[in-house]
Formats: sequence, structure tokens, C-alpha cells
Amino acid sequence: MTKRLLFMAVFIFTSCMRSAWAQEPPTSETFTVHADKKGPTINRDIFGQFAEHLGQGIYEGVWVGRDSAMPNTRGIRKDIVEALRAIKVPVVRWPGGCFADEYHWQKGVGPEQQRRTTINALWGGVPEPNTFGTDEYMDFLNQIGAESYISINMGTGTPQEAAEWLEYMTALPPSSLAKERVANGHKEPYKIKYLGLGNESWGCGGPFTADAYVERMKLFNHFVHNFNPSQGSPSPFLPSPNPMKKVAVGPDAAKTEYTEAVMKAWGTRQPVDAFFWNVDGLSLHSYTFGGMPLSAPATDFSEKEYSKVLKETLNIDDIIAKHSAIMDKYDPQKKVALVVDEWGAWLKPMPGTNPAFLKQQNSLRDAILAALNLNIFIHHADRVRMANIAQMVNVIQSMILTDKEKMILTPTYYVYKMYVPFQDATLLAAELDPGEYKFGDISMRRVDGIAARDKDGQVWLAVTNIDPNGATDVHVKLDGISAKSANGQVLTADKVDSVNSFEASNVVVPKEFTAHAIKGDLTLHLPAKSITVVRIEE
Ligand code: AHR
Repeated sequence: MTKRLLFMAVFIFTSCMRSAWAQEPPTSETFTVHADKKGPTINRDIFGQFAEHLGQGIYEGVWVGRDSAMPNTRGIRKDIVEALRAIKVPVVRWPGGCFADEYHWQKGVGPEQQRRTTINALWGGVPEPNTFGTDEYMDFLNQIGAESYISINMGTGTPQEAAEWLEYMTALPPSSLAKERVANGHKEPYKIKYLGLGNESWGCGGPFTADAYVERMKLFNHFVHNFNPSQGSPSPFLPSPNPMKKVAVGPDAAKTEYTEAVMKAWGTRQPVDAFFWNVDGLSLHSYTFGGMPLSAPATDFSEKEYSKVLKETLNIDDIIAKHSAIMDKYDPQKKVALVVDEWGAWLKPMPGTNPAFLKQQNSLRDAILAALNLNIFIHHADRVRMANIAQMVNVIQSMILTDKEKMILTPTYYVYKMYVPFQDATLLAAELDPGEYKFGDISMRRVDGIAARDKDGQVWLAVTNIDPNGATDVHVKLDGISAKSANGQVLTADKVDSVNSFEASNVVVPKEFTAHAIKGDLTLHLPAKSITVVRIEE
């Protein structure tokens, strides 16, 4: 080889090695935030939870019983209460889910020894001891500081049974049902913030056609009265001070029949009908499956599966827009909320667990998925005023996993914790140049984000870098305020499928994050596959 050829070969080799080894320069996106242009309030109930009698969601997950050796307050796990208080859970939907349409509330009240054991037919055919019932649910809400969202049984139940449940919970003596509640240790009537009128009546709660559901829903709707003096009114013709909000069954993901039928019935009511039935919310259920339900792996997945699942989850933006457009037709004033009361990544159950219990691991990908969904709900905050992730403990995309007395906080939990400042904050107008993340023929935005001003006037940003391969610099241009710095937390890990486990519970945990401003604007250096939430210091 001549000297010249040798030199060229060495040059080509070293250039190749340099490009392979050198750190890719970060890409950059721009996020322009208009701190003076206020959007809708971000209803704190968007950060709501869902807890069904399913697998270990209630029994073991929340309820261990008064005689348990595990630290508990009146049967409710202390460690779970403490963890949930820290994320300020605003509302918990209960008792289902599909379970709600087979649940008979009378079996879950009164002295524990006298409660009947039934069978949880839908979720594994296991015994349902009914030891966690209405009074225990209310006690649990009280312990974690959340409000109630009760789904009545419109499947195997009757309007009378639903009406009596409401009477038990909200009436005052001398009503015999109110006296029964008092005898069970609860003098004051309960407050019911939301009442779900059935569940998935197009599926496990029926199946009914949309029109058949509307007729059935009107019947139940008409007869469920809230007698709590702070909520109800003594006559349907008099306004209530703080009425309970009723949520009707709505669409299964992108299907529109229920949206059309319920909204049309509501929008075309005669004025007198409005005294007897009302709908304040329309429920949307939209899960991310990543393929066939229960088939996509929750751990040990490739970048292909990572990108596929996140691409699918971003579709919920179009799904919400589609239903909102129909709702706008009948309800231009947006009186009826779209309530996304079941959503999340529904993946393969953990090996070695009962597959009917839907217990799955939770990875950094789930955290990113949660942030993306929350951002979408927040962007639609004028219509989406509640969302309830499925489900709170041990089921599907949970906040917490337990193994008897052991407990771990999932990556999704930390997203909820980081997003606490957005509860009841005001969305700020913003434009994002999101860049692009591509894997094979799958492409999506690289960066996603929201900006909001909290009740104390502080401006907060939440920005997610979806790209698993590269860090990125997001230039935040601030219109209306001048930043000195931004401080908060970032959540990331070595791999997109990193998890917290009972053996290593701190693999995916938030770390401190700081950015300094230049001339009032910020550059946020976001690690690959990360979620960052910061408060702007002015
Ligand atoms: O969250 C699990 C189940 O998913 C719920 O019970 C049901 O409503 C939905 O199909």
C-alpha cells in the first residue's frame, strides 16, 4: 500500500470511528409560551383514579381488613393512603367498571360478619367478600382526601335499588335507610360528586344499542335523588346548591353511536324534561393496547414496540376531537363534559399472576404514555373535565404495585406527582415546534408539552422528550414574563422498559432539574425518553 493510500485509509477509519463514538449533538425544538393568554382551567379531576373490585385492586391493594398485621386504619392500608395523599388524588371512580353492573350495594353494608360472600363473575370467578363496601369506600376517600364517583348498577340492578343506594348515602333520618347508615357509624350524609349511569352499556354493561341505552338511562336518571341538603333540593323544580353531576355512558374509543344518541337526547329535551333528567358528563373509554388486547409486553420490549404503543396512544387526541365535534353540535356552550373515565396502557399481565386479575408491570414507557395522555386531556380542558386512569393499584396501568405487605411506586405514579401543580391551574396559550421522532415507518412528534399558571400565579411547564435515542434542547420563548431560571424534576431511566420492582424500587424516580435563563428565555436540555416539569422563576 502506498503512503498516500495508507493515509487515506487511516483518515476514513478515524472519521468513521469519530462519528460512531461522538455524542450526537442535541437537536432543538421551540416552545413559545404566552404567559398572558389564558386558556381554560385544568380541572383537577383530570388527574382522577379508577378503582374496581378486580384482582388485587381493592382487596390487598387498598383493603387488608381491621385485623390485619399490616399497618391499617379501619382496614385500609396506611402505606397506600400515604402514597396517594402525596399525589393529591382528586376523585376515585368505584366500584367498577364491569363489576359495577353486577354489584348490589346492600351486600356491602352493615356488620362485617353478616355480609354475604358473592362471586366476582367477570374477574376470575373469585369470592367477593363484600367487606369493602360503601362506608369503607367513603372512609378511604376521606383518608386520602379525594371525592366520590360512584357507578350505579344499570345492568343487573333496578331503578329502585339505585334510588335506595342514593337514599342510604345521602338522606337524613327519619328515612329508615338513613337510620341504617347512622347505625353503621355514619351520622352525616355523604357527598356524591359524580354519579355514573352504568358502565360500557355497549359491552359488559349491556349490550344495549345506543338508543336502548338512552331510554334505560333516562329511567334511572329520573329516579336517583340526592337528599344531602348541601347538594340536593327538596323538589326537582328548585335549583340545587351544589348538584351531584351525572355521567352517562358514552363512546367506546372512536365509535360515535353513543355520543350521537346521548347528546341528541340531551340536546333536544323539552324544557320540562330538564327537571327530571340531566347529563353533566359523557364517559369515553379509550385504552392503548399496542396490538391485540393483553398481548403487548409490559417489559423487555424493543424500540419498535415502544414507538408503536406511543404512536397509538397519541390517537386519543383525534378521538377526543371527534367526540367533541359531535358534542359541540348539541352543546355549543360545553355544559356536558367529556369524561375519560377509563384510559391507560392495557398490556400483558405479569408472569405468574392470575391473568384475570390484569396485574401488569409499569415501565418508563408507561410514564411517557401517561404524560402524553395528560397533556392531550389538558389541551382539551374546555371539554375534558375529568379523566380516571385504569386503575389505581395493582390493575392495568397502576400508580402502585403491592406484593402482600410490600409496595412499590410505579413510573406512572411519579408523573402524577410531578403534575400536581397543574391541578386547577389555568392553561396558557403556547405554540410548539415539536420536531420529529421516527422509527422505521412510524413517526410522531419528538417533543410534547404544556404550560399553565397555577392559582398562586406561578408558571409551570411540562415537557416530554419521546425520542429514546437522543437528548434535545427545547428553546422556551416566554412572551409576557421574563425568566431567571426554571427548577423542577426530570423522570428518565437507562432504558425505555426500565421498571421499579420489589427488588429494586428506585430505578425510575424523578431527579432534580434546573435550567438557567438567557435574556429572559430558557433552554431546557431534555434527556432522551424523559418527562420534565419545571416552575419558572421570574
Ligand atoms: O378496567 C378494566 C375493564 O375495562 C373495566 O371493568 C371495563 O369497564 C373496561 O372494559
